[in-house]
Amino acid sequence: MKKEYKRTLITTALPYANGPVHIGHLAGVYVPADIYARFLRLNGRDVTLVGGSDEHGVPITIKAKAEGVTPQDIVDRYHTIIRDSMKGLGISFDVYSRTTSDIHSETASEFFRRLYEKGEFIEKTSMQLYDEKANQFLADRYVTGECPHCHAPGAYGDQCEKCGTSLNATDLINPKSAITGNTPVLRETHHWYLPLDRWENALREWILEGHKEWKTNVYGQCKSWLDLGLQPRAVSRDLDWGVPVPVEGAEGKVLYVWFDAPIGYISNTKELYPDTWETWWKDPETRIINFIGKDNIVFHCIVFPAMLMAYGDSYQLPDNVPANEFLNLEGDKISTSRNWAVWLHEYLEDFPGKQDVLRYVLTANAPETKDNDFTWRDFQTRNNSELVAILGNFVNRAVVLTHKYFGGTVPAPGQIQQPDLDVFAELDRLKTEIASALETFHFREALKLAMDMARAGNKYLQETEPWKLFKTDPDRTATVLNTALQVCASLAVAFEPFTPFMSERLCRMLGLGDLSWDMIGGRDLVKAGATIAQPELLFEKIEDDAIKAQTDRLERIKEENKLKNWKPAEQQPDVDFDTFCRSDLRVATVTACIKVPKADKLLQFTLDDGTGTPRTIVSGIAAHYPEPEKLVGRQVVFIANLPPRKLRGITSQGMILSAENADGSLTLIAPSADATPGAQVK
Ligand code: MF3
Ligand code: ZN
Repeated sequence: MKKEYKRTLITTALPYANGPVHIGHLAGVYVPADIYARFLRLNGRDVTLVGGSDEHGVPITIKAKAEGVTPQDIVDRYHTIIRDSMKGLGISFDVYSRTTSDIHSETASEFFRRLYEKGEFIEKTSMQLYDEKANQFLADRYVTGECPHCHAPGAYGDQCEKCGTSLNATDLINPKSAITGNTPVLRETHHWYLPLDRWENALREWILEGHKEWKTNVYGQCKSWLDLGLQPRAVSRDLDWGVPVPVEGAEGKVLYVWFDAPIGYISNTKELYPDTWETWWKDPETRIINFIGKDNIVFHCIVFPAMLMAYGDSYQLPDNVPANEFLNLEGDKISTSRNWAVWLHEYLEDFPGKQDVLRYVLTANAPETKDNDFTWRDFQTRNNSELVAILGNFVNRAVVLTHKYFGGTVPAPGQIQQPDLDVFAELDRLKTEIASALETFHFREALKLAMDMARAGNKYLQETEPWKLFKTDPDRTATVLNTALQVCASLAVAFEPFTPFMSERLCRMLGLGDLSWDMIGGRDLVKAGATIAQPELLFEKIEDDAIKAQTDRLERIKEENKLKNWKPAEQQPDVDFDTFCRSDLRVATVTACIKVPKADKLLQFTLDDGTGTPRTIVSGIAAHYPEPEKLVGRQVVFIANLPPRKLRGITSQGMILSAENADGSLTLIAPSADATPGAQVK
């Protein structure tokens, strides 16, 4: 923080209230924002952390329709879950409100009206796709069809995911409404647009010249948007859910969700500070930081700043937008609709008292510069071999030894020696490094450095071995344990932004009062003569069964998704009738069936095919028929005229037919009633 600011306003992307929040939201936005806010507070800064639910937009209306409830019901449900679970994780919002509040619709309306009256919009009439069955215009995402470029089926109205081209919904070949499956029609509609092109030079100057210090992923995305040239963006929609467009003749039109949502940052600040909110937005000595995920960059760096500039009245632009990349889950993209996520409210139920573990793991693995992966194994390992084995272990040793040798009273230090000086010097060094990592939004690095403090503590105890000294040199033991307890106190401070629950317990154990960043490295934080509490474990080992319960759940979801998304295979190219007729399909009765030794997948069938000579066929279906002897007597259909093939030394004379089901299992094909062995299938 080079320049001294009077205050910092930290905003966090408002999560859509159409589902609970998951670890991706947390790692990308809320955990880093909370770390940052807590760090600044420890430094005595004036900080406000703003959050809230984003309660408008088309997906919420569609979900409501699907469930037969109102959009308000949907957002009420998820707003409550999100708000409570964020609180449960210790995200220290000063305000967590919602965009369906009165103060928000007033603020957003007023914002629009002022731009309207200043002539900051252009109005345009255009043709858009309309679903006559659902009686609504279709947002781009809700139209699918054939891509006009690569001709892939199922391209979205805004983009073809196959070839990556951005599209206009009206360019799709054979478009279909994703809501009803109906073919939409073109209808004329009228909207207000914010001409971003008017702000292009100002934005260029502000970002490309003025903010070279932004993260490279953010700067790079802004640059490529700006280099492409900015276009007017519609700020209204034909929808009955949202803030009504506050001008005459705008019935049935609401503000586009991406117009009203960022204004939510302002309305939520207003709700928190009815009298002083303006100093948080308009005073140049306020620094505004927007924490977001990478899919929000254009809205926070281009669109919202253009809105603020158009509004004028000394609204400040963000000073930094430390956007993160995405977190994947066990190698797959997190998805609310596919239920592929670790939901925060479920985590809090499954792992009570382990908020810090999740916060720690998500920070250690934060997708700061590239997409990253969350796995339950890594979660377990980081808990057991970092939180428990390094941090928890160090604190526990210091506290247990103090109880053992000094009955829980903090011993006064004697003569200070080099190792004691060294460990304090290490704390001082790390204190500065952690602070500069946090100031520049390098949260992973900062956490690693904080862990280095605990490592330094362990190394110190290992070197000084106070348990060996007590009999011969109790004074030295006293000095070492006093020092170790001071290190514990420094850890309580350094870890407060990351693991506030642990920090609070540690403070209670050591009898520390209010914390401040300056304390780190202090030599008299825990007072000699004070009594410390009985040792309690700060972290406990996470056993395999708890992890297995989670990975089993994910396996089940994978299976469910397979079934839900199963579609019959695409039809094969035509074959002519004569070619088909040359396949000689016949019925046979199984006379013996055994597992092929040392081949998991294979069964060896002996068949009565009516010729009098037993026929052997080896088939890869062992996984689906675990008791092959039970197949004896059943009938199967096989292809007789394939060239014989050797499998594991057995000559297989043909192939047995089976059907592949949605879940990947195989079912043998059999005649519906007994047929003559050898009967040809016609
Ligand atoms: N709801 C949006 C999302 O989840 C984020 C909105 S951020 C705000 O992607 F600035 F608009 F509030
Ligand atoms: Zn395409």
